[in-house]
Amino acid sequence: MDGLRRLEYRGYDSSGLALFEPGGIKCFKAVGKIRELEKELTTNSLVGKGGIAHTRWATHGRPSFANAHPHRDCRGEVFLIHNGIIENFQALKNELCVRGHKFTSETDTEVLAHLIEEYYSEDLVRAVIRALRRVIGTFGLAVISAREPQKIVVARRGSPVILGIGNGEIFAASDASALVSHTKQVVYLHDDDVAVLTPSAYEITNLNDPSIQRQAQTLEWDVSAAEKQGFPHFMLKEIHEEPEAVENAMRGRLLEDEGISKFGGLEPVLDCILKMNRLILISCGTSYYAGLLGRYVIEACTDVAVEVDVASESRYRKMNFRPGTVVLAISQSGETADTIAAVREAKRKQALVLGLVNVVGSTLSRETDAGIYNHAGPEIGVASTKAFISQLTILYLLTLLISRHQDMSLSEGRSFLRELQSIPAKIRCILKGADKIERLAKKYSQYKNFLYLGRKFNLPVALEGALKMKEVSYIHAEAYPAGEMKHGPIALIDENFPSVFLAPQDSVYEKVISNIQEIKARRGPVIAVGNEDDRELPRYCDDVLEVPRTEEIFTPLLTVIPLQLFAYYVAREKGCDIDQPRNLAKSVTVE
Ligand code: M6R
Repeated sequence: MDGLRRLEYRGYDSSGLALFEPGGIKCFKAVGKIRELEKELTTNSLVGKGGIAHTRWATHGRPSFANAHPHRDCRGEVFLIHNGIIENFQALKNELCVRGHKFTSETDTEVLAHLIEEYYSEDLVRAVIRALRRVIGTFGLAVISAREPQKIVVARRGSPVILGIGNGEIFAASDASALVSHTKQVVYLHDDDVAVLTPSAYEITNLNDPSIQRQAQTLEWDVSAAEKQGFPHFMLKEIHEEPEAVENAMRGRLLEDEGISKFGGLEPVLDCILKMNRLILISCGTSYYAGLLGRYVIEACTDVAVEVDVASESRYRKMNFRPGTVVLAISQSGETADTIAAVREAKRKQALVLGLVNVVGSTLSRETDAGIYNHAGPEIGVASTKAFISQLTILYLLTLLISRHQDMSLSEGRSFLRELQSIPAKIRCILKGADKIERLAKKYSQYKNFLYLGRKFNLPVALEGALKMKEVSYIHAEAYPAGEMKHGPIALIDENFPSVFLAPQDSVYEKVISNIQEIKARRGPVIAVGNEDDRELPRYCDDVLEVPRTEEIFTPLLTVIPLQLFAYYVAREKGCDIDQPRNLAKSVTVE
């Protein structure tokens, strides 16, 4: 249950557990959060020490008791849990129905239980392997059978599975956070690996190469990194960790005298990176907005042409990876199915693919040709905050690396680094003023809509600010380039529709002020994020969220912080489930 609680951020609409108990397997399920399952368990005395458990993020079938995992075969002998999607489940289900199998859920997963039953005569592992050979789609899977107690068969294709090697006990989970309080010795399964676990041993084979060997690795983070440490929510804790996230992203990567950065993970492909003339950034959600900012920054400082793609869409373009093109996939989790699919496509076309990933050992970190780790520590809140700041910091350092091999002078490089190094202290200043943002959130929490507007470097911040607001508070918020507002969205504006402007005193400040006036002329309330010593801005706005000054190019590292806090406090004011917002999951491992 402790492991399940630590994984709850991955999905939380229903949960379930199946245990080897004297007399057979006992299975419990509940709809809603894991605490509902706990209530079920307290009324039963359980002694079993082996079993499987799952917390669900619905794909096929609404959250319900019947659709919650574990799923079972007709005989109630085989139980299994599954992440991913069985794409050919309907064809398999039709076939199994004809053979007399009775289905009790709407899920794609249940088909696996019946398929294994179909092939199960004596050996569970062989039955699982035969079943998996018929499956199209993705799976992170754990299967048990009442006929073979104290044995768990796990398998992966597309959805992560990690083994934890304890002392006289073996674990498997979809994320290291569930294992770390028990053991730091882990084995990452690769696609098509099947492992058999018993209390004291594990054996791994692969559907394509039975002789495969997998090495155990040591996890580097400890359990306290995945706890709230006195904060009411992970999101607030992680926002407060942002100064360190910037520092950790820079640690060991600055050559201050030379005014340049270095990345150990990129060394083997540095030559190609320095020769590239085109960079394609691929990612989803918040990581996509980091990519958008990366485009502005890299294009401002280098000769590299940058394209940014939402990973789920990139496959629909006729991608041309001509020589000189490099792909960079950005992902906090390293497990986002859309991003993985885009990376595989780029690799199929022989592109050099780099990764910017936070989770060590994740699928993307293994499948990319070379890469950079964020070192931001585990991010548990579903709304990404510190990973975003960390991604931006690394994109600045990458820009510096390329730029110093092009036109940027030594003194410009040194001053770039100095300014970046001053950012953590400035973020700490913003965090000290969080109570003002909390008061403002009370004033605005009753509004039903927000428009976020920014230009140039702060357009990605507007997009990210709006995403944070909708994710955690469920308030409709959309973002536009401030200059686009007059081409349509301004029709929405009245006294009940506030706008949030990104307005640091930079090269587009005057134009942003004009846009603010256009909103005010239509009686729209205006909140602006501006510089703390800007005397002019408050004259045009209802409220100002202040940030310290920095060079224009680095302003996003500061302006996004008040917007994260604003979204957090509005959601808190509304009593929302901030760390586990409805309908969302932390790693989106389905396409
Ligand atoms: O793990 P990734 O960075 O690949 O995740 C991408 C998105 O799913 C993620 O950023 C999502 O948008 C977050 N909930 C944003 O807060």
